Amino acid sequence: MNERYAKITGWGKYVPERVLTNHDLAQMVDTSDEWIVTRTGIRERHIRGEGDTTSSMSVAAAQEALDVAGITAKDLDLIIVCTSSPDYLLPSVASQVQHMLGAECGAFSLVAGCSGWVYGFTTASQYIRAGLYNRILVVGVEIISFALDFTDRSTCILFGDAAAATVVEGSDEPGGLLATELGSDGSGAMALYVPDGGSTSPVTQQTVDERRQYMRMDGQEVFKFAVRTLASSLKRTVYQAGLTPDDIDLFIPHQANARIIEAAARQMRVPIEKFYMNLDRYGNTSAASVPLALVEAIEEGRLREGDTVAMCAFGAGLTWATAVVQMGTAEESVADSLFSAARARYLARRTSDIVLDSAQSALLPLYTFLYERRKKR
Ligand code: ACO
Repeated sequence: MNERYAKITGWGKYVPERVLTNHDLAQMVDTSDEWIVTRTGIRERHIRGEGDTTSSMSVAAAQEALDVAGITAKDLDLIIVCTSSPDYLLPSVASQVQHMLGAECGAFSLVAGCSGWVYGFTTASQYIRAGLYNRILVVGVEIISFALDFTDRSTCILFGDAAAATVVEGSDEPGGLLATELGSDGSGAMALYVPDGGSTSPVTQQTVDERRQYMRMDGQEVFKFAVRTLASSLKRTVYQAGLTPDDIDLFIPHQANARIIEAAARQMRVPIEKFYMNLDRYGNTSAASVPLALVEAIEEGRLREGDTVAMCAFGAGLTWATAVVQMGTAEESVADSLFSAARARYLARRTSDIVLDSAQSALLPLYTFLYERRKKR
């Protein structure tokens, strides 16, 4: 059999409409926009709306990814949903997503904290390279807000909800995943964890009173681990791919904190402009963070056909995962059109937002006039 390569051929995202700004948070806990922006770079995050569930958000992102790849759910050989916030402890949310999409294939969930999607993408790539499967959906999704204590200013300001999905397909043309590193250091498990709700400590009235169902974090410990890991794992994996940092067109780091990313860029002696960041708008969306940044980098034209991207995530576990990928589609002939279509779709969405905003502003005096007239009658 010819050597097989695993390529990202479809991408999509879903972000809940509801926005929670730093100013909103300053009404809830003792914090300020200035503190959050200076210490993290985050300005706002999205929080799930009433109809949003981990499965529904996955399906919305997946539909977009399938459309970009030009396939249907029936064409999928496997679904991997990476999340720490499933709809239920049982069943696996991946089976719900499989059913909702109308797919006819195996499905499993994968838990690796914020590193989840990179773990999932690496796993999918190995199935493809081994020749077992050809089309795999990998979703990174999180309604992490459900595990946040909105009275704890040290954690609730950091996170947001989102979903992003990718289709990974087999190809005979070289490219796709070039090198990967998966890591775990369970000695740091208690640096970021949810004390109760698992089999060790089921939820009781007392644990709820003590707010032990919410995330606890040793921020400084995670910070040090993150800087160390981001720079070293990125360098190791880039060299493993036979490349140097200069050969990388774009670095996509986990979007936890701008200071972590800046420190890693300094350590690697790579200009900060080569590190993609959208955390100002979304905060840390955990397993959705890296794929959401990937989707937006493509939509914004920061990543094009043939570019090489190095993605690295780190998080609870403690875990980390890095993947160096050459972008390109399964069918080289349609590659350019796919990338341009993604860009066109993004521009169309931006334009329609602007047009809608302007139309609403323009119509406001008319609405006010009609409303006042109706009131007078
Ligand atoms: N607003 C105002 N003050 C605050 C806030 C806040 N939101 N949070 C903490 N402070 C205070 C602290 O109480 C402390 O006050 P003190 O000096 O009077 O004791 C002071 O600010 C400094 O606290 P530090 O913890 O030293 O602040 P630091 O600069 O380290 O920033 C932060 C804290 C942002 C949490 C940082 O440590 C960090 O980003 N850590 C990594 C977190 C992370 O990325 N976690 C996710 C990993 S991924 C995953 O899998 C989920």
